[in-house]
Amino acid sequence: MTGGGAAGAKHQFEPAIDEAERALRAVAGGARGLELAESYRRVLSSWPVDSPYNRVPAEVLAARDTLRREGGASLVAAVHRFVLLASIPAAREALAAQAHLAPVLEWFDSAAAGMAAELAGTPDERLDFPLDPFVKDLAVVLRRLWPLGAVGVDPRVRLRRTWFTEDGARGLLQGAGVLLRLRGTAPLYEIHLYHRHLSEFSEQGWTACYRRIAQIMGAQPWIRGLFGKTWFWDPALERVSPHLAYLRRLPLAHGAILVRVRNGPHTYVNALQKSETRRRLHAAGKYEPQEYVLIWPRRPFLRWAAGA
Ligand SMILES: CC(C)(COP(=O)(O)OP(=O)(O)OC[C@H]1O[C@@H](n2cnc3c(N)ncnc32)[C@H](O)[C@@H]1OP(=O)(O)O)[C@@H](O)C(=O)NCCC(=O)NCCS
Repeated sequence: MTGGGAAGAKHQFEPAIDEAERALRAVAGGARGLELAESYRRVLSSWPVDSPYNRVPAEVLAARDTLRREGGASLVAAVHRFVLLASIPAAREALAAQAHLAPVLEWFDSAAAGMAAELAGTPDERLDFPLDPFVKDLAVVLRRLWPLGAVGVDPRVRLRRTWFTEDGARGLLQGAGVLLRLRGTAPLYEIHLYHRHLSEFSEQGWTACYRRIAQIMGAQPWIRGLFGKTWFWDPALERVSPHLAYLRRLPLAHGAILVRVRNGPHTYVNALQKSETRRRLHAAGKYEPQEYVLIWPRRPFLRWAAGA
């Protein structure tokens, strides 16, 4: 999409929004569908701004449960489709009004176009909490997650102090060093992969994305740095998946810190899902997926970006 603000976005997305509205009316028996969607949007707007994109408030879950009781999974999905699409024009207008968020626009537009093209055909059961692709799409249209290419940014997150207690004395020492360098644990940007832009997952894509993040961070002097938590910062990747070693090398060469943390419920699935090699090495006892948090403090991050 090229410019045009909310009016342009409304015009571009009108057919998809109209289709979602028709489907919602059909499922909810007429105008009642729009009333339900409006009250659901009001509940969504009460989501605290400094809460992570995937920490769904109890009020939102309760509103979803009410929809489910009234019309089952098909009503929940119809409301979610409509809310996602109907939120796009105003979200785009709000993003475009903030000059420092200019790097987000291109990625927001491509995410929105993907939603408009795909949501009607997305099965009902995939359009609900806590499924991450749905939660991320919702976060994008609610402007809680800025899509920026290889990763999206959750802009106001607190670093979890308990991470530094999960690797014994080494973790505690690292924690002290990190707190000293960051001078606090919030706010930081937390980075997340976004399924609609996985084609940007390459050394070039990550580097370009970090530059976009730096451009925005430069305009927000209160941000202390960025962090991400995943299996692919693991030093073992140098050996098992050397084509992914760039992911650690670049930040570590420019002032980032790596902290070993406890594995989560998805660590093994995520690490083994796409790679026959990692699955084979794991089965042979030669690779155990391990989660790490990578923290890149503001000063060295912006210094890298200025010189990159
Ligand atoms: C993270 C992720 C996107 C990285 O994908 P990737 O850059 O393609 O790297 P992977 O090592 O996972 O690639 C999978 C396979 O494709 C191959 N591959 C990757 N890039 C390739 C390329 N440019 N050319 C040819 N083959 C390639 C790899 O060789 C690998 O197979 P192998 O390990 O058996 O050799 C992918 O692993 C993934 O989607 N994982 C599941 C979700 C996840 O982990 N999300 C993050 C949660 S924090």
